[in-house]
Amino acid sequence: MKEKYAVITGASQGLGYAFAKELAAQKLNLVLISLPGQDLCRLALCISDTYNVKVRYYETDLSVKENVINLCEWLNRYFNIYILINNAGLGGTQKFTDASVQYINSIIQVNVVATSLLTHQLLPNLLKQPQAYILNVSSMAAFSPIGYKTVYPASKTFIHSFSRGLSEELKNTGVVVSVVNPGAMATNEEVCKRIKKLGYIGRLTLLQPEKVAGRCIRQLFRKDRVIMVNPWSWLVMALLPVWIKLPLLTYNIKKEIQ
Ligand SMILES: NC(=O)c1ccc[n+]([C@@H]2O[C@H](COP(=O)([O-])OP(=O)(O)OC[C@H]3O[C@@H](n4cnc5c(N)ncnc54)[C@H](OP(=O)(O)O)[C@@H]3O)[C@@H](O)[C@H]2O)c1
Repeated sequence: MKEKYAVITGASQGLGYAFAKELAAQKLNLVLISLPGQDLCRLALCISDTYNVKVRYYETDLSVKENVINLCEWLNRYFNIYILINNAGLGGTQKFTDASVQYINSIIQVNVVATSLLTHQLLPNLLKQPQAYILNVSSMAAFSPIGYKTVYPASKTFIHSFSRGLSEELKNTGVVVSVVNPGAMATNEEVCKRIKKLGYIGRLTLLQPEKVAGRCIRQLFRKDRVIMVNPWSWLVMALLPVWIKLPLLTYNIKKEIQ
């Protein structure tokens, strides 16, 4: 009998690492995925010792389609997957004309292609479990286009729409599909520096990844399909028409590159 595991992408730091600790604390075995060179082996050992669970790991660049397929083959061969968390994602703030081909391509490959393919390739495995969960990490940025971010919010809108559609398609199965749309989180130094530039409102809405991970896992097990961690920001985004929020957000984000 293969044992049940939770798979987390982007697990070596930030929100992904917070998910790993949260699930390990609930005595779930883990498969951690990260880019090569993130000291994932040490991290896996540390989580396994602290929480007394099994932790496996796999290092790969998810912006390469063949790597995603190889990873899925390995996962399907060795594990029963109980939870899949598509957390790996990247973005940035740049003038579109200054952005490199690699920058644009890697955002689309990791956020859009890897999320879709991992879900597609692992779904038969998840469907074999009596109950299983998929959590896709989108962003508050999914709710408005934003200049100087352009590709990132578009990719997060994709993740949101993809998750809602798949959730509906799978509603009579044992697989629950949820999406979370966090606002800014203090996950790394670069994010914190950017938030500081956005002033009081930015700092006020900044979230701690451990809190976000805890809430997400609680809501996931309650089968909440759209997990809101910043309800007030979400309300503002939902109420404001695009002709107001698009120039407003773009004006604020532009400060990050000035
Ligand atoms: N931080 C925020 O303010 C914020 C706000 C809203 C949404 N989000 C979303 O939350 C998720 C986690 O963000 P974060 O801030 O914790 O992390 P982050 O520091 O922005 O990094 C994202 C993670 O994605 C993984 N990743 C990036 N490129 C990859 C590639 N080519 N192949 C494999 N993995 C790759 C990396 O994982 P490893 O380092 O483990 O390799 C990295 O830790 C992302 O989807 C992000 O878009 C973040």
